[in-house]
Amino acid sequence: METTHLFGVNGMNITNAAYIVAAILFIVGLKQLGSPATARNGNRMSALAMLVAIVATVVGNDIASWEFILAGAIVGSAIGAFSARKIAMTSMPQLVAIFNGFGGAASAVIAAAELIRLIDNGADIAQDVSITIMASVIVGGVTLTGSFIAYGKLQGIVPTRPILLPIRNVINVALLIGMIASTVWLVIDPSMTAFMIAGAIALALGILVVIPIGGADMPVVIALLNSYSGIAGAATGFVLGNTVLIIAGSLVGASGLILTRIMTKAMNRSLANVMLGGFGVEDGAASAGGDDDRPVTSIQHEDAAMMLAYAQSVIFVPGYGLAVAQAQHQVRELADLLKAKGISVRYAIHPVAGRMPGHMNVLLAEANVPYDELKDLDEINGEFQRTDVAVVIGANDVTNPSARTDKSSPIYGMPILNVDQAQSVIMMKRGMSSGFAGVQNELFFLDKTQMLFGDAKDSVEKITAEVKDL
Ligand code: TAP
Repeated sequence: METTHLFGVNGMNITNAAYIVAAILFIVGLKQLGSPATARNGNRMSALAMLVAIVATVVGNDIASWEFILAGAIVGSAIGAFSARKIAMTSMPQLVAIFNGFGGAASAVIAAAELIRLIDNGADIAQDVSITIMASVIVGGVTLTGSFIAYGKLQGIVPTRPILLPIRNVINVALLIGMIASTVWLVIDPSMTAFMIAGAIALALGILVVIPIGGADMPVVIALLNSYSGIAGAATGFVLGNTVLIIAGSLVGASGLILTRIMTKAMNRSLANVMLGGFGVEDGAASAGGDDDRPVTSIQHEDAAMMLAYAQSVIFVPGYGLAVAQAQHQVRELADLLKAKGISVRYAIHPVAGRMPGHMNVLLAEANVPYDELKDLDEINGEFQRTDVAVVIGANDVTNPSARTDKSSPIYGMPILNVDQAQSVIMMKRGMSSGFAGVQNELFFLDKTQMLFGDAKDSVEKITAEVKDL
């Protein structure tokens, strides 16, 4: 698709100038996403960049019919705005997974449209064009189905445990060979048949690559699929010769890869280890919560308030349950109260606590928790043994000591917060159910652990009321 220079001005056209503005806005926006304080503005800048890029592309090209473009823009914007406004904060990763999938699909469909146009025109298709068309459809197709399986796992529609097909490696290798063969076919003899075969293989591969990955490793998968959606977009940018699409796709691809690296480090996994799947699914895998009848010690909020009011140091350990309960404001109020009594208060932030990167940071920033009280895993882990009370608020997997020792556990090898080393532990959750990875938490059964059952917001409110009276 060639750009018609409607706005030619001394060799430099307005479309390209707009693309440069969009690219700068994308880069500055991305930079601002790096801190909770500037992230909102970063989001707005990136959205503005996208608007500039779309308007410049539409206006800068000969458009035969505006109706479809307008209808698509209105319907797409309405769906995007509605879903972003309606979605619960706890379901954000699912939304991101779906958006990644649609990004991949869009790239594949545009590549198909371009191939059809070139074939219809009887044009000689250059090798670099046919290769980038195949890259778009292959990466886009894998991203589409892989993201939908990831969505299903996060939503609980698809089992979160790894699903292992008996000869999956043989199937995967066969699909890879098919993909290479269809690419060579398209380069030698451009046809829609080769394209469709590659597309079908990519869709199958997306499913087969993601179903063997266990729920606990989903953070890595989502980050990687995010990167794939960017790579597919960049490839489509090369197909169309569209600079801003190449830039935006490369930014998403590169930042997704950096996030994948951060996530693999947080889970103590190699990427190969995650992608080959089946991690921690040996026979006799760790038992799920709920089917364990060992006794636990439970306490009431009055006891918890006494423990906290007479402590010298407290570490709050937030997890996914904090997000479900939306207890961040109440936790900050309790922390303020304890600090006013001269008690040292810090927050231990695990990189994969919650359901999306930075989930706990975002929640606590919303409640204006001072940033210097948030300590990451490496900073805080040595501090637990010197801490009187660790208060676990809706966290589970990220505190499970069996991740250190139980080789059959799906979270084996994941660095955990050393909550079990604190002098005493208050564990706030509603019942005995397991966390996302579906494994029992040995922390519940330690002598030093006191279970405080109930919704985290309700429990924290009651503790705060008691502490005020002490
Ligand atoms: P989880 O292990 O998922 O545990 C959360 C706990 O919160 C549950 O055991 C639940 O127990 C409790 N809970 C839920 N609602 C609650 C409420 N209203 N009040 C009190 N407690 C409540 O959470 P985590 O420790 O944060 O670990 C995160 C897990 O998610 C890891 O396995 C991680 O790999 C995975 N994951 C993370 C991400 C990212 S990027 N962060 C993305 C996808 C998956 P009850 O039901 O008994 O209350």
